[in-house]
Amino acid sequence: MCGIVGYIGSARSSAKALDIGLEALARMEYRGYDSAGIAVISDGDIEVEKKAGKLANLQQQIAETGRDRFNGKACIGHTRWATHGRPNDVNAHPHVSFDGKAVIVHNGIIENFAPLRAEIEAAGVELTSETDSEVAAHLLALAYAAGPTAGDLEASALSVLRRLEGAFTVLFAHADEPGKIVAGRRSTPLIVGVGEDGMFLGSDVAGFIAHTREAVELDENNAVVITADGYRVMDFDGTPTEGRPFTIDWDLAAAEKGGFDSFMMKEIFEQPAAVRDTLAGHYVDGRVVLDEQRLSDDDLRQVEKVFVVACGSAYHSGLLAKYAIEHWVRLPVEIEVASEFRYRDPVLDRQTLVVAVSQSGETADTLEAVRHAKKQGARVLAVCNTNGSQIPREADAVLYTHAGPEIGVASTKAFLAQVAANYIVGLALAQARGTKFSDEIETTYRQLEEIPGKIEKVLELKDTVLELAAELGPIPTMLFLGRHVGYPVALEGALKLKELAYIHAEGFPAGELKHGPIALIEDDLPVVVVVPSPQGREILHSKIVTNIQEIRARGARTIVIAEEGDEAVRPFANDLLEIPQCPTLLQPLLSTVPLQFLSAEIARQCGNTDIDKPRNLAKSVTVE
Ligand code: M6R
Repeated sequence: MCGIVGYIGSARSSAKALDIGLEALARMEYRGYDSAGIAVISDGDIEVEKKAGKLANLQQQIAETGRDRFNGKACIGHTRWATHGRPNDVNAHPHVSFDGKAVIVHNGIIENFAPLRAEIEAAGVELTSETDSEVAAHLLALAYAAGPTAGDLEASALSVLRRLEGAFTVLFAHADEPGKIVAGRRSTPLIVGVGEDGMFLGSDVAGFIAHTREAVELDENNAVVITADGYRVMDFDGTPTEGRPFTIDWDLAAAEKGGFDSFMMKEIFEQPAAVRDTLAGHYVDGRVVLDEQRLSDDDLRQVEKVFVVACGSAYHSGLLAKYAIEHWVRLPVEIEVASEFRYRDPVLDRQTLVVAVSQSGETADTLEAVRHAKKQGARVLAVCNTNGSQIPREADAVLYTHAGPEIGVASTKAFLAQVAANYIVGLALAQARGTKFSDEIETTYRQLEEIPGKIEKVLELKDTVLELAAELGPIPTMLFLGRHVGYPVALEGALKLKELAYIHAEGFPAGELKHGPIALIEDDLPVVVVVPSPQGREILHSKIVTNIQEIRARGARTIVIAEEGDEAVRPFANDLLEIPQCPTLLQPLLSTVPLQFLSAEIARQCGNTDIDKPRNLAKSVTVE
């Protein structure tokens, strides 16, 4: 949650820090859009502008009040997803200290802000916002003004970092040292960008990908000082440490809309590539391989139970992992929403494998579940889309999804890539434990490799689905039904609709309908039904055909997603969306796609004109 950016231009750079900072905020806005703000630091002066609402409000305010006052070469900026305090102008970041000299931006939660606040108030400082973050600005000013760290930004910032509890990334600047920004992180992200014409800081690489591909990750409880032409990494005591340099392999085009009217629509169309790239390189010389495998085949053979932990769409991908792993590996799999996992004291030991699925690799609930699992001795395998993020760094093995940057808050391509990756994990387990012959594994892998081409075919349904959604108009509610692997797809369809169209939607196992939800069916209620392949498990297919008839008989408008050639469903479908044939377990990689189009257009019908940034949400949820 929250995006933070920092920049110092080199002596030869003619770019205005204000422009670079605003551009970085635009790329970072998907991390939070309750408010935005920027501070430009020049000799003896800090110019701040901040505004509630989306970045456009800030840009307009700057245009109205004049840009000439923003003269410095350094800036820090912030896009907020509110935790402490309402999303208004005062609570927006940056926060400036009582003496007007120190300025900070913060992502995360400062858990001990209450005693710190009391201490600052006792020193006669009046706090102006309701945030936990503001304390950091005043603490910096106090440390800079007097005492052992007086007149030293680096030492003052480190002294503040040592006092903070919780999860945080904080950027510190001071008017008396405009050529320096100090930043520190604990459990929330911070990446340094090393440019030829300046140094950058960002919550993720999107903030500076237009300027450099050279980046540096920081370890937990590490700080960095950037100046116009370099950086130094250290721990909070100031002891030098090493950052981890890496080269960004996402290109700039991936972080831009490329002719689509929304990132979400572009990302839906990137799904064949996301699945293809995720599969690439994981079947080598007749063997399934993961990326960072610090677990041996022997470790995998000792596993007696698998837990999958994840949130939101990643959780739905995890439900599919359960079907695949139980079927292929014959190991019991429990899937749990990450925010619930550690609070119910699950039974974990060395023979437990916890698979943590996360696009961002930052989700606080999932990260805490991972930490809890490790403390109990379990092994952790991360499925993640973000290289170097915290969850894979703490895991024993990693499989990266290669979806590229996902900017739309509603997950599309990252979800499909997660499903594909979870299946790779299932096959890797089956291989290590010998529950499938190698030729069976190869056959399944080849079937997975055919999926991107089939997704291309499903993408051709776009106009049909948009027309259908437009015909439905601004509906108040919608139901989604599925059986077996169609059930997680139904849940994912309902989640997409809730988060994008702001309407009530629910997904049910189709067989559960008679046990209550069927009472919701009334004339013209749109009900999406995900139908399993008739070539696969005959029993599944025939049962769901009966379910469609039951709801149709009660007046529902049935929107049926079924395989091409499935004539049995045709008489009972008001709207039939046909997808290519594929093995039962892999069908979610196809059947999810029409639901993404459907939710995008129903959102528009319901009045959401910015599907990339649904209200109240943020891309990375770094607070529990
Ligand atoms: O980054 P993660 O995969 O850990 O994020 C998990 C969820 O927050 C995420 O999938 C969320 O549910 C999406 N907005 C759904 O579209």
